[in-house]
Amino acid sequence: MKKRNNFDNVNNIAKMYIKEVIGEGDVCIDATMGNGYDTVFLAEIVGENGKVYAFDVQEEAIKSTEKKVKKLEFEDRVELILDGHENISNYVKDSIKCAVFNLGYLPRCEHRIITKPDTTIEAIKQSVALLEENGVVCVSIYTGHEGGMEERNAVFDYAANLEQKEYNVFESKFINQKNNPPSIILIEKKKQV
Ligand SMILES: C[S@@+](CC[C@H](N)C(=O)[O-])C[C@H]1O[C@@H](n2cnc3c(N)ncnc32)[C@H](O)[C@@H]1O
Repeated sequence: MKKRNNFDNVNNIAKMYIKEVIGEGDVCIDATMGNGYDTVFLAEIVGENGKVYAFDVQEEAIKSTEKKVKKLEFEDRVELILDGHENISNYVKDSIKCAVFNLGYLPRCEHRIITKPDTTIEAIKQSVALLEENGVVCVSIYTGHEGGMEERNAVFDYAANLEQKEYNVFESKFINQKNNPPSIILIEKKKQV
């Protein structure tokens, strides 16, 4: 029987979409590095000819991710950046195949350090501007914490108003879960004809 992850976890579902988008040699952004799970996931797929730029404002995130990156010997393909994702365009000059946002706060860490609507929208805008044709910005959104719904609404409003001729914008969410279930928004840059 085919082995696969269930549709019970927003991270697994986001990874399923991302796997469909990226491949060997691609350039990606992990806009919310945290403990680096997404960073190494992206780095594994893009391979030694690809590149992952990962951002976080917490030094703990850099330390924790650095350990994983070193263990897997991914140093040459990963750049860890201690700065807010709202400054992506200061660091990333290449076009990108994918940018991954996992919003909210890092579990078991300082809950006051959460992503915020203004900086999140600025970072998503900068990522969208860097997208290659067929590239995707994938945003996993949580609304259970204070400010989470406001952030979700800001992302939704921005994404829903992107020009349909240029972008496919798709939302994916649990509709039978109680207590503010998470959702995913995908922004795909269409191939220009
Ligand atoms: C839900 S966690 C990310 C989890 C991560 N993807 C992982 O694999 O462990 C959200 C992260 O966003 C970070 N963050 C908050 N504001 C940020 C900003 N302006 N720029 C970059 N990262 C930010 C937090 O420090 C936190 O580590």
